[in-house]
Amino acid sequence: MEFKLATQLKNAHPTVIREIYTYAGEHPGFMDLSIGEPSADTFPLKEIAKASAEMYEHDGKKALAYGPYPGMPEVIEEIKKWLLHRGFDLTDQDIEILPGSGHGMDNMANTFCDEGDVILCEMFAYPGIQNAARMVGAKLIGVSMDDDGINIEALEKAAQENDRVKFLYLCPSFNNPTGITIPEWKREKIYEIAQKYDFMIYEDDPYSQLAFNHHPLKEIKKYDTEGRVVYAASLSKIVSAGMRIGFFLCHKDLRKQLEMSQGNAGVQSVPVMLTVANYMKENDIQKHCYDVADFYKDRADWMMHCVNKYLPHYVRPNVPEGGLFLWLNVPEVLDLNAIWHELMEKNVGVVPSFGFSADPENCPGSAFRMCYSTPPREVIEEACKVIGAVLREHLPE
Ligand SMILES: Cc1ncc(COP(=O)(O)O)c(C=O)c1O
Repeated sequence: MEFKLATQLKNAHPTVIREIYTYAGEHPGFMDLSIGEPSADTFPLKEIAKASAEMYEHDGKKALAYGPYPGMPEVIEEIKKWLLHRGFDLTDQDIEILPGSGHGMDNMANTFCDEGDVILCEMFAYPGIQNAARMVGAKLIGVSMDDDGINIEALEKAAQENDRVKFLYLCPSFNNPTGITIPEWKREKIYEIAQKYDFMIYEDDPYSQLAFNHHPLKEIKKYDTEGRVVYAASLSKIVSAGMRIGFFLCHKDLRKQLEMSQGNAGVQSVPVMLTVANYMKENDIQKHCYDVADFYKDRADWMMHCVNKYLPHYVRPNVPEGGLFLWLNVPEVLDLNAIWHELMEKNVGVVPSFGFSADPENCPGSAFRMCYSTPPREVIEEACKVIGAVLREHLPE
């Protein structure tokens, strides 16, 4: 049967990551540095099991019923305490629980964008924003980047040239895919530009609490005096990816709109929210974040060691300072597509930069994203040996 699909879906392309995922599934022993998942070894399994058992024992009937719209007050309360501890001013702000922060991008696009409106993002950004833009018929424009993230002049130019910019999407700390953290002076400047050209900012922040030095930078939301920043965070990289829980922090006048924009999709699980509330009540989540950051620092150091040992000297890695990703810049003369496929044939998965580009045809980039969170040390080492050999075949040192 020929399905009469919506135009938005007809225009959807299978992502590069999906291609690698399919290939990996068919090839046992695949050395996969492509999958940007947190390590399940970092999740507080014992504590969550206890929190869940207590939740069913004391609040079982409440857990199995429908919950209120913004989310269960118990978990909202615990999240507020955590945000206050981190220095957020919660005056006039509200929280909405989300089934993960990826979901929030759809809410944001549904809330602000009509067909033909513009969403700005860094040229290399989390692909979820491409889906969110496509589903509402918005135009996604990638802004060029410096070594420390979005280029300020290019951002201002994009805002000047496009009068339908509704919001800027940014993951300012330990960005997926580039690992870049935007410095505070730039964060302030970005906020000023958003004020000047009157657009919103969607601050996507799943990684800031995984700073290897335990000192995350000031969130853009903390510069916000008007309700211009919607801050979205997630517990997927800290407590559990499978439980599906994240949240918005936004101006109180905006929460309802963001909530309504999710239509029928915004279902938060009551048992999950109550379990996480119990977990946060009984455990120091900030201390847990530091432990998780230490775990990833060890992995990142090992990957950097292997990159330095096995890869040609012309590669230029963004040295990770937090989060899950190492972005490996390679010389522009290299054929990224050919190298990516050759690596797959040799059982190594990395993601070429064009898989994250807002404009893959004109701005494919010249880098690979390598993820150190899940592969064992020996897989990271073996994969780096193969990458080194393939790069040298294409471009000797
Ligand atoms: C930058 C970024 N935003 C959002 C998400 C989605 O996270 P969640 O599991 O909270 O939906 C991810 C997941 O990898 C991510 O890297």
